[in-house]
Amino acid sequence: MNKFYKIFNENFIARAKAHARVNLIGEHTDYTEGYVLPTLLRQKTEVYISLSKNKHNVYSQYFDEKVSFNNLAKSSNSHWIDYIKGCLAILKINKYLKNDFFNILIFSNIPINKGISSSAAICVALLKAIRNYYDLIITDKEIALLAQKVEKQYIGVKCGIMDQMVSSIGILNKAFFLNCRTLEYELIDIPKDYIFNLIDTKIERNLRASSYNQRYKELKKAEKFLKPKKLFESSLADLNKNNFDDLIKKRARHVITENIRVLQARKALKDNELNYFGKLMNKSHSSYSKDFEASNKEIDLMVKRSILSGSIGSRLTGGGFGGFVVSLVNINKHKKWKTNMSKIYNKKQFLL
Ligand code: GLA
Repeated sequence: MNKFYKIFNENFIARAKAHARVNLIGEHTDYTEGYVLPTLLRQKTEVYISLSKNKHNVYSQYFDEKVSFNNLAKSSNSHWIDYIKGCLAILKINKYLKNDFFNILIFSNIPINKGISSSAAICVALLKAIRNYYDLIITDKEIALLAQKVEKQYIGVKCGIMDQMVSSIGILNKAFFLNCRTLEYELIDIPKDYIFNLIDTKIERNLRASSYNQRYKELKKAEKFLKPKKLFESSLADLNKNNFDDLIKKRARHVITENIRVLQARKALKDNELNYFGKLMNKSHSSYSKDFEASNKEIDLMVKRSILSGSIGSRLTGGGFGGFVVSLVNINKHKKWKTNMSKIYNKKQFLL
């Protein structure tokens, strides 16, 4: 590749790529061992590497920035390079890497901080590139677990395993049903006559700064109340039996009902009942907005307008508090939906 040669004055030796994802249903259910149903997006991150002599050199085309370093300490300003350093640190801690240095070139067309997993994609792609370089025996599932460690142990986001699993194992045009407790998964075809459209709410969300970790804590609190039951095995009756904080109860109610919806959505997709799938998306959004309070008026309005414009189901996707709204539209109604939504929202907000 020309670009690699131009920057590092040699050819790359190994490469790998990983896609962004959109979660179709199942929000904040992964880190309480529940169910999720995301799918891959076309947008992807590609990583090219070769060995370097005495320091790591990383060029990101997305940020048009080159960074060199020889220690793996985290930056003090949440710089993108932390994801690279984090991957190298986790590989070292897990004894997959010794003292080698790398030249790393990163291409990406995944918008960042928008809830479609740009960070999981960069971690999965880099970890796979290094795996390919050394021919390491690491499965795609283990790659996902290592990428999750980067987020949790290095970056400090208490994320679940959904993003890394689908980014490492998922297949385009298939929904990826995941049991986050057992890590068993199922790839389900998405019918060709339906489209999942994404519109940017233009509300930037940074997992590190957002209320994501706050929600995590609230759900862990709920689990303390529900003990010995875990959230994924609790029912609404269990919630009512327990006399605990109203706010924590609301958060837990979202998760309990959301897990049921994911299972229903999986069945609906398999049975080709896309209208029902859409209804579940709408219910999911309402729960995400009212019980989980991860939405806001502007986002709720976008969801409403999308439904009025002909979408079967619409909801805020990802960690919450901004990012993209995903809408399910029948191909025959797509033109009308898009024309209507384009009257209100800028063309640039539509993810193609
Ligand atoms: C982020 C996290 C995931 C998951 C979602 C919410 O994307 O990385 O693990 O918790 O938010 O569903």
